[in-house]
Amino acid sequence: MSRTSAVLLSAAGLLCLSVISFGPHMARVSAHMQEPNLQRPQNARGNGAERSHIFLGLGRIPDEAAAKRGEPLFKQSCAVCHGADARGGIGPNLLRSVLVLHDDKNEEVSQVIKNGRPQSGMPGFPNLTAEERNDIAEYVQHQIELAANRGLYKYSGTMSSGDAAKGKAFFAANCASCHSTTGDLAGIGNKFSDPTAMLARIAWPRDRGPRQATVTTPDGRKLTGTLAHYDDFETTLKSADGTASTWPTSAIKVEIADKLEGHRALLPKYTDDDLHNLTRYLLTIK
Ligand code: HEC
Ligand code: HEC
Repeated sequence: MSRTSAVLLSAAGLLCLSVISFGPHMARVSAHMQEPNLQRPQNARGNGAERSHIFLGLGRIPDEAAAKRGEPLFKQSCAVCHGADARGGIGPNLLRSVLVLHDDKNEEVSQVIKNGRPQSGMPGFPNLTAEERNDIAEYVQHQIELAANRGLYKYSGTMSSGDAAKGKAFFAANCASCHSTTGDLAGIGNKFSDPTAMLARIAWPRDRGPRQATVTTPDGRKLTGTLAHYDDFETTLKSADGTASTWPTSAIKVEIADKLEGHRALLPKYTDDDLHNLTRYLLTIK
């Protein structure tokens, strides 16, 4: 059997199997998960994007102009954790994310970008506009397309480098205004002795406790309390006396107190080397 027909046959088998057992949505995912089947037929010509989409059972073709606009935004706000090509770092590989693969209209990804998952290490980016969030999501979808075309799915390498002395200098210049290695961060090298855990904490410390927020109501009153629920549709605020109030999010203004603002401001500044150097340095603080 020729190489091309072998590839086509296995892809056809894969897609049929998936469609029968899981329906079209799962077909997209399983097509991605099956790495050996990701190579395009060697002789596929013509409209490459369209062909590989049909071949892989993917959804719509990503909008390249939007993806281009999204690229610098992704590099600035997301790459430090998800890797420059979204293949993962201390945050998950987005090209394998079921949430991303299912998100035909960029709604889910947009929501994750806006609110983050502060409890599990993903900050929200409430200052990005809806259009910017859409462009970033489109950039990620475009990366999936490129990866599918090239047939390369790789985990990004783990950390092996880092220079503690350079990390110390970076710390003095960028961190010492809020932290001290003999004060609040004393013994931090014992607390996070695993380099990956340390790197994750430096990039984005875990948010402790509930979020405080101020809500401006439709009639102009300002209420402050604990954010019990917050998404694009509904917001619930609990005030100090325990009363909960709920509004449609579109009708109010929500300002969330951000004690990790300093860390958010640093995200676009780190290079990989900076993070590795800092990690090496803080690991020595026993
Ligand atoms: C400080 C690190 C960090 C930054 C910066 C960051 N993320 Fe994340 N992201 C994470 C982590 C950690 C998770 C996993 C959270 C969880 O397990 O719920 C995550 C999860 C996600 C998910 C959900 C994946 C899934 O399968 O559930 C998406 C989508 C995502 N991030 C997109 C982005 C985008 C787009 C940006 C930039 C606007 C960004 N992230 C910035 C750390 C980060
Ligand atoms: C503007 C202030 C500010 C700056 C600048 C800042 N941080 Fe933080 N950092 C915080 C706050 C606030 C927390 C959360 C502390 C808490 O919740 O107890 C934190 C938490 C951390 C933690 C987790 C500590 C723990 O015990 O879990 C580490 C590690 C950390 N920062 C490292 C750094 C490094 C490294 C830099 C410089 C690259 C830096 N921070 C810059 C304010 C800052």
